[in-house]
Amino acid sequence: MNEKFYLTTAIDYVNGAPHIGHAYEKILSDVIIRHKRQLIDNAFMLTGTDEHGIKIQKTAAAKNITPKELCDENFSKFENAWKELEISYDKIIRTTDEEHKKVVKQIFNKLLKNGDIYKHSYTGLYCSGCESFLSPKDLTEDGLCPDHLKKPEEITEENYFFKLTKYKVKIAEYIKNNPGFILPEIRVNELLNQLENIEDISVSRTKSSVQWGIGVDGDDTQTIYVWIDALSNYITAIGYDINNPSEQFKKLWPADVHVIGKDIIKFHSIYWLAILMSLELPLPKTIYAHGWITIDQSKMSKSLGNVIAPHDVLKAFNLTEPDAFRYYMASAAQSGKDGNYSDEDFKEKVNADLANNIGNLLNRTLNMLVKYFDGEIKQEFISNKSCKIAIMAENTKTQIIEAFNKYEIAEAANLIVTFSDSVNKYVTDNAPWSLAKEEKTVECGQVLYNVLEAMRYIAIMLYPYCPNIAKDILIQLNENIDFKYQNLTWGKLKIGKITQKENIKPVFLRLDSKFATDKKKD
Ligand code: MSP
Repeated sequence: MNEKFYLTTAIDYVNGAPHIGHAYEKILSDVIIRHKRQLIDNAFMLTGTDEHGIKIQKTAAAKNITPKELCDENFSKFENAWKELEISYDKIIRTTDEEHKKVVKQIFNKLLKNGDIYKHSYTGLYCSGCESFLSPKDLTEDGLCPDHLKKPEEITEENYFFKLTKYKVKIAEYIKNNPGFILPEIRVNELLNQLENIEDISVSRTKSSVQWGIGVDGDDTQTIYVWIDALSNYITAIGYDINNPSEQFKKLWPADVHVIGKDIIKFHSIYWLAILMSLELPLPKTIYAHGWITIDQSKMSKSLGNVIAPHDVLKAFNLTEPDAFRYYMASAAQSGKDGNYSDEDFKEKVNADLANNIGNLLNRTLNMLVKYFDGEIKQEFISNKSCKIAIMAENTKTQIIEAFNKYEIAEAANLIVTFSDSVNKYVTDNAPWSLAKEEKTVECGQVLYNVLEAMRYIAIMLYPYCPNIAKDILIQLNENIDFKYQNLTWGKLKIGKITQKENIKPVFLRLDSKFATDKKKD
């Protein structure tokens, strides 16, 4: 199969440990890539860390360690967190990687050679939180950065500037001519307005103010400013090289989607596009901007003391697998909207959907299969593709693929739960226990077959969110562990004896609220 899918996430700053906001993005991205792998062979996910800049330099100095030591220490925290959450990236890039640094220098030189980078003395308001100059229009009434609520520093420097204005019209055309380039589409107008007021941007800082970064070739006084360094990761990680791009680069580029937070859309859909235009490279197909995760409805911040690490959630609920947390996070917000985390909601949501709805359905159906048929599915139980549940299963599958194409990840999860609800209702309406009592053996067997075949659909559709639960469901159905959509057609459930009493176990244990609360106090 020639089709490919290349997904990237934002690369995280490593001046602290990962929190559930960072985790939200990586989980959404992982859910998307796992879904794509169910459909095509060549789906590639890149993630990484953004390691240069003034913030890292300052934090390291305060801790009396080198910036690289700080990066190494925090990089492992990100790496461990993604491992614990089973983020199945194909590559994790660090902007301190030698290969990346080499190619960023090449990119800078090429833009310089094109005449798109020039030197200019400039006075501006610099926010170290954004690692960016802000225009007075961007500030709050009190003159603060709206994202970091900090007063930006007034800085006068001679820096290199990138001619963003040269690409303004082309970028606007690209955005307008490519519906679906920026998703959700509600962000498009906001961006076009920002584009109207765009100015050339500084792409370097003086060495005297920022040492921790990639130097400009042949100019000892300047450090390449973080955004050109950071954005380039999407091409350097897969082997871009001005003179000799790798086979992998030729195969994967352009990116199919850059998954990022809503706070950095401007950098991706304006700055990044202009850089790519200057490099004469194809442009990414979609920029998908997710919303932000709040904690108990407040913004997560060190000063509020409400920053939660993903590991703490798993530990608090004594979870050895990340499925419940992944599921909750991926369902936390409608596409592009903000979402909220609270312990109570978490428990409620996963207990309702994973334990009571999906888990119970499997459990009680397998128990009935043991009770009435000694765990055996007989040939005569097989239903055809035109039965009500089969049609519903197929429709759900199609709708899920469509939802993923629009990056509606929470909405797709909801489709699975709605389908499971309908199957539960089907069980109640058809009461297999009454059919068994009335000795309507074949009818009873057909109902159980339909439910178990629906469970196979549910397992496969749930896999991107809950890979372990999905696997357990397939094991209990005595199915091969294969999550490809290719095999997801009605009527393929294995027949014969599939289970016995002692093999039936809940696939997800309810989170016991008392236990969880006690644990939280530790
Ligand atoms: N280093 C830049 C990105 C460069 S991409 C070429 C950066 N780093 S960050 O660590 O501040 O954020 C990394 C990603 O996490 C961003 O997409 C950001 O939107 C996202 N989030 C950070 N906090 C978040 C929440 N509270 N909720 C959801 N996403 C959040 O920006």
